[in-house]
Amino acid sequence: MAFVIDGKEAAASVISAVTEASVSLEGKTGIKPGLAVVIVGEDPASHAYVNSKGKMAKQCGFNSIQHTLPEETTQEELQALVDTLNADLAVHGILVQLPLPKHFDSDAIIQSILPEKDVDGLNIANAGKIATGDLDTGLISCTPAGSMLLVKRVHGEDLSGLNAVVIGRSNLFGKPMGLLLLAANATVTMAHSRTKDLASVCRNADILVAAVGRAEMVKRDWVKPGATVIDVGINRVPAPEKGEGKTKLVGDVAFVEASEVAASITPVPGGVGPMTIAMLMANTVIAAHRACS
Ligand code: GUN
Repeated sequence: MAFVIDGKEAAASVISAVTEASVSLEGKTGIKPGLAVVIVGEDPASHAYVNSKGKMAKQCGFNSIQHTLPEETTQEELQALVDTLNADLAVHGILVQLPLPKHFDSDAIIQSILPEKDVDGLNIANAGKIATGDLDTGLISCTPAGSMLLVKRVHGEDLSGLNAVVIGRSNLFGKPMGLLLLAANATVTMAHSRTKDLASVCRNADILVAAVGRAEMVKRDWVKPGATVIDVGINRVPAPEKGEGKTKLVGDVAFVEASEVAASITPVPGGVGPMTIAMLMANTVIAAHRACS
């Protein structure tokens, strides 16, 4: 049976370091890190994520600012809010929760966030720094950064000689994850929906990272014996065993069967999920420190 990588515990240790850094910054400068989270519309899952981000920000000693805008907000109104937050010296990090309702040009909004306040790491300036190997002066997208931290807990800093396969090529996760693995010297394959014989590509992975958004797609025979499996999926599926109409969260990996083959694996929930929020807090305290120095 595989070792189960405890994302909650890893996240707690990041949060404790972030809280210390936040308290120290406030002690030295009187300034609290400020995180502004903007959500548009009523999607309950997005509201749940945003609320937990706000709670965690307060726990870290941050000034937590939440803007909840109605579904019918216009592009111009949302842009005006981002412009105001960009100009506000008490705001060090800005996150616009995605997806935005369909009538928005999301990219225009995301790219308008100042790179130094882009705690999501989605601005092309931050994405470009990762692509060119500068992991120190920008802000790295939270889920890939958190996933890398879990990979490094297993393998250490240097992934030389290891084959890594990332399934999924989104800007939010797959692309930056591939680049971070590459920066740590792994040999990286970026797989996606058009990849031929995905199962056999995955079987070559010493580090297999799944971010496809399809419940339990990665099966036992996709996993190389002894591999490290990082499951980034969060899928809500029916759970009739818990009672009629009940649901549960599962990842993109069939956890029980994959655990029989892998050496280490992240669970869902309790794996990558808690790391994403922890790294958002880390990015905010880094942004605040930079703004004050
Ligand atoms: N929606 C789901 N995950 C994320 C994320 O990491 N950042 C933002 N802005 N929206 C999301």
